[in-house]
Amino acid sequence: MIHRRCTAVHRNTVRSKVIKWFVVACIAGVTILYLFLTGPGIRMVHFAASYSDNARLHTVNRFTEAKFVYAINPHHYNLVIAEENKCEQKDAYVFLLVLIHSKPSHIDLRKKQRMTSLRETNVRGKRIIVVYLVGNTTNKNLNDRIFNESHVYRDIIMEDFLDTYYNLTNKFMMGMKWASLYCPQAKYVLKGDDDVYFNLHNIVQMLSSAPSVNFISGYVHNYAKPYRNEGSKWYIPESVYPYKYYPPFCVGYAYVMSGDLPRKLFQVAQHIPFFPLDDVFMGFCARKLNVLPVYKVGFRRPGWGRLSFCNLNLSYAIHFSDYQQIPKMWSEQQSNLDDKTCSRFIYYLRSLF
Ligand SMILES: *[C@@H]1O[C@H](CO)[C@@H](O)[C@H](O)[C@H]1NC(C)=O
Ligand SMILES: *[C@@H]1O[C@H](CO)[C@@H](O)[C@H](O)[C@H]1NC(C)=O
Ligand SMILES: *[C@@H]1O[C@H](CO)[C@@H](O)[C@H](O)[C@H]1NC(C)=O
Ligand SMILES: *[C@@H]1O[C@H](CO)[C@@H](O)[C@H](O)[C@H]1NC(C)=O
Repeated sequence: MIHRRCTAVHRNTVRSKVIKWFVVACIAGVTILYLFLTGPGIRMVHFAASYSDNARLHTVNRFTEAKFVYAINPHHYNLVIAEENKCEQKDAYVFLLVLIHSKPSHIDLRKKQRMTSLRETNVRGKRIIVVYLVGNTTNKNLNDRIFNESHVYRDIIMEDFLDTYYNLTNKFMMGMKWASLYCPQAKYVLKGDDDVYFNLHNIVQMLSSAPSVNFISGYVHNYAKPYRNEGSKWYIPESVYPYKYYPPFCVGYAYVMSGDLPRKLFQVAQHIPFFPLDDVFMGFCARKLNVLPVYKVGFRRPGWGRLSFCNLNLSYAIHFSDYQQIPKMWSEQQSNLDDKTCSRFIYYLRSLF
């Protein structure tokens, strides 16, 4: 009888010990996971990833290492609309220059962006300049509308190449050229697309403690391979790029760079064979300059996640197919009636999938 009661007591203490250790282990596990996801851990993973890129040098090829003395890819297009004084107004100080690759016909998207996520010219006391980069079109009426838009907003830059998908690399070079000619004082440059939601507050906060030279950051592809199926928008035949991997590059919808880079990138781009995908081309240039793009969680994988208060609140940039909802989300963000708080932990956790 006594013996049996003793075992029962013993079993109870064993069970409570197990529960206690289980709770302790859970708390420790969650804490470690939290630290790992939000701080040093994620940096270690990225460092390891970039180190292995460095070590393997899988992307040394004629696009990244070619030592052409003369310009094999000269950018001899002229600015039709230059807005030379855009960065000079008021005072000369510019913290962030935003270059948006925009399709001439996307008048409505530009309007939405100007009204919402790119509306502010001063964030956290730092001056921001936004310009839209367009090429020429064969449509006279559209060209007239763009000239009108330019008169109203004074934020359109146009060069005389034909604005097509496979000329986006020329648009990239145009942006780098314009930034180095007319806005060399910008501390940082953001390259984006016209169907992207930017959170300038978070971007400015991140950049306030970012390196000021040789820094590129966005959603990084480290081991992207060329698409070899002919139906794809990104199809690249082996005759154009015979290698297995691209160098690391930031997906073009949104990435930031330090203000020294536009000049260097424009210079080096003229010595690299023309390549139709502008973000991969940027990767060639960065590789040649020995600048490794840095991944930041807030640059969401294109197509990721919902348009929600917290996703917008915690991100740097999100690419949406449904841009129509942006104005509504924007006003909700501004008013923030419920004073919601968003969990950074859940946001980071979800970024892994
Ligand atoms: C733009 O394209 C049109 C039609 O192709 C052409 O006539 C015009 O000269 C071009 N404009 C500039 C500034 O190159
Ligand atoms: C451009 O603006 C002018 C004057 O404001 C107007 O008469 C003209 O219709 C506009 N053109 C287009 C294509 O919107
Ligand atoms: C790029 O622009 C140039 C200059 O306007 C034009 O001749 C060329 O056809 C365009 N390339 C593509 C692929 O559209
Ligand atoms: C995110 O939400 C918080 C809490 O509502 C708000 O104070 C903050 O300004 C928001 N930040 C951004 C960058 O939207």
